[in-house]
Amino acid sequence: MASKHKLDFIDLELERIRRNNLYRKLRYGKTNGAYITINGKKLLNLCSNDYLGIPTVKIQFKQLQSSSRLVSGNDESYKKLEDALAKHKSKQNSLIYPTGYMANLGVISSIAKKGDLILSDELNHASIIESCKLSDAQVSIYKHNNMQDLQKKLKHKAKNKFVITEGIFSMDGDFSFLKQITEVSEKANAIIIVDDAHGDFVVGKDGKGTPNYFNVTKKIDLYISSLSKGLGSFGGYVASQNNVIDLCINKSKSFIYTSALPSFLIDHSMKRFESNREKQKKKLEKNTKQLSKGLTQIGYKINSSTHIIPIIIGNEKSAMDFGKFLFNNGVFVQPIRYPTVPKNQARLRISVTAWLSDANIEKALEIFEKAYPKFR
Ligand SMILES: Cc1ncc(COP(=O)(O)O)c(C=O)c1O
Repeated sequence: MASKHKLDFIDLELERIRRNNLYRKLRYGKTNGAYITINGKKLLNLCSNDYLGIPTVKIQFKQLQSSSRLVSGNDESYKKLEDALAKHKSKQNSLIYPTGYMANLGVISSIAKKGDLILSDELNHASIIESCKLSDAQVSIYKHNNMQDLQKKLKHKAKNKFVITEGIFSMDGDFSFLKQITEVSEKANAIIIVDDAHGDFVVGKDGKGTPNYFNVTKKIDLYISSLSKGLGSFGGYVASQNNVIDLCINKSKSFIYTSALPSFLIDHSMKRFESNREKQKKKLEKNTKQLSKGLTQIGYKINSSTHIIPIIIGNEKSAMDFGKFLFNNGVFVQPIRYPTVPKNQARLRISVTAWLSDANIEKALEIFEKAYPKFR
C-alpha cells in the first residue's frame, strides 16, 4: 500500500469543494475597455468593478519605495491624495492602505476593543467579517437592513458601540438604509462606519458616495472605501477625524507591517480622481438604466437600482451552467457562489461599467434573452 503523504488531506478538501460545485479556478485574461480576452476568446466584460471606465491616464513609472510608510515609503504623493480624499468625504483627514480589504482589517481592529460591541449587517463583505474577528470586541450580526433588529441589538450594554454597514451591498446591489441607520445609531450613541467600496465615486453629488446620496455625510463617523472600483485604480482608504487617523497610523497592523503602495499608483489614483468623472458617471447611470430595463423586459427579476445587478439562480451548478452559456456566447459574467453569498443563493452578478456602448448592451441583452428559457 502506498504510504500516505502528510499533505494528502488537501486532496480530500479539494474533492469536497468540487463535489459541492464550489471549486474555483483561476483564469488568465487580458482586459481592454469593454472587453476581456480569455483563452483567445474576446468576450464582453460584464463583471468588472471599473465602474466609471475612466479612459487610461498616463503616469510616470517611479522607483519603488520598498518600505512601509512609517519607514521610508511615505512618498510625498500620498499627502496630496490623502488631502483630496479627506475633502471628498468632508472629513478632517484620510489614510491610504494598500487595499480596501486591508483598510477594513486595520481600521476596525484598531478602534474596537474588549468591552465594545460591533453591530454588523448580515450581508457585509468578507473583509468586514474578518476585521470584526480581529478586534476583541463582541460582534453581533443584525438582519440585513432590518432596523427593528438593529434597534433591539443596540440595547445591549457596551463601552463603545459600532454600527458597520456597506453603502451599496457588493453582491446584492441594494443600498443600505443609511438614513434610518444613522437615526437609530445616533439614539444609542453608536459610532457609524460605512464601507462604501461600491458607491464611492459612483453615486451622490460629484461621486461623493452613498452617505452623500442619502444626505447623511456628517453623521458618518468613519468612511472606508476602495480606490480599485469606481475610480478604477488601486488601494483603499479611511476618512475620518484626526484622532481616528492618528490611532490607525499607530495601531493598524495592515498599515504598519506592510510595504507602501508604489507612488506611481498613488499618482494614478490622483490623476483619475482629477479626471472628468462626472461625464463617466452620467454614462454609467445611462448604461445601468438601459441594461436593467432590458433585463426586466426579458423577464428577469431585478431587485437592484444600482450598477450591480444580480440575477439570483439559487443552485450552484445551475449558476455555473448559466455562466458557461454566457461565456460560450461571448459574454463574461462570473457566477458568485458560497461562501461569497449564502448556500443556494448562487447568482450571476452583473456589474455595469461606463465602458459599455449602446451596441455592447444590446448584444448582451440578446444573449440574456437567448438564455432566459434555459435558466430562469
Ligand atoms: C464592500 C467591500 N469592501 C472592501 C472590499 C475590498 O476592496 P479592495 O478590492 O480594494 O481590497 C471589497 C472588494 O470586493 C468590497 O466589496
